[in-house]
Amino acid sequence: MVQLQLLLVFLTSLLFQGSEQDQYSPSNRIINGENAAPKQFPYQVLTEKLVNYNWERSCGGVIISNRTILTAAHCIRDSIYSTLSSRYARKIYFGTVDKTNIYETGQQRLIVKRKNIIVHPEYDSIQFLNDIALIRLPTEILFDEYIQPAKLPDPDKLYDNQIGVVSGWGIFDRDSQNTPNNLQYLNVTIFPYEECKPLVHKYEGFHAKFFPASYICLKPSQGSPCHGDSGGPLAIRNEDGTSTIVGLTSFGMDGTCNPNTPTIFTRVSSFLQWIKENE
Ligand SMILES: *[C@@H]1O[C@H](CO)[C@@H](O)[C@H](O)[C@H]1NC(C)=O
Ligand SMILES: *[C@@H]1O[C@H](CO)[C@@H](O)[C@H](O)[C@H]1NC(C)=O
Repeated sequence: MVQLQLLLVFLTSLLFQGSEQDQYSPSNRIINGENAAPKQFPYQVLTEKLVNYNWERSCGGVIISNRTILTAAHCIRDSIYSTLSSRYARKIYFGTVDKTNIYETGQQRLIVKRKNIIVHPEYDSIQFLNDIALIRLPTEILFDEYIQPAKLPDPDKLYDNQIGVVSGWGIFDRDSQNTPNNLQYLNVTIFPYEECKPLVHKYEGFHAKFFPASYICLKPSQGSPCHGDSGGPLAIRNEDGTSTIVGLTSFGMDGTCNPNTPTIFTRVSSFLQWIKENE
């Protein structure tokens, strides 16, 4: 139990009531992010799940085509705590910045059935492997200024030391556990394996002691993704204004979203074949 607590994923709130953030130096706020503007992250979606007739905040996700969303597997099947969560329907918010404003220009919402959600068959919630899932939309999205897909990454590139951007509606205040209404973002640097691996292995809770090629890591910085950002994008902005999705928010070192520790993302380029076969 303790070990699992140390290895917590950036999942929703449910698992984090009364977490141990007090032991850590208080930090502010995505932690230390900035407010996103409309059209800035047109590939970003928010998902909610239907639990007891209520829509609960779930995770982020990324549009990769007019029929396909990528997210994290733990957003769909959150480990041993709830093997059942994949039974929930999902509501997907497109073109959204302020998720509380149903009249927001550009915002669209679509409900998908659980049978449209495919979790990677080798997803392993204990060792945190293959944390990726795909949502097949029941109908095609019409792209506009507010809703656009991100490009899939180049399988031959590691993107080491490149500047990327993470975004989401996750917790922005570690003390209050509050989540923002407005989408947050943070500019980040992608950390090479050799530099990330030793930092990750320092954490006692990281019991798997295995660092697969399918992780992509953020260099510790002034900010961090946090609970609720899971499944959302780590993207690189291309010169032509489009974006390439290189990672999906997966987990942090100690469940406290401490910006001084690395954050691990699912490396999308490791799953291109699986995506192609399942989209
Ligand atoms: C959806 O994408 C497919 C493949 O790129 C394309 O053939 C189709 O026309 C698109 N549909 C719409 C409504 O844009
Ligand atoms: C993040 O990077 C983008 C692109 O380089 C830049 O326009 C923006 O001002 C940066 N934002 C912050 C908060 O540093």
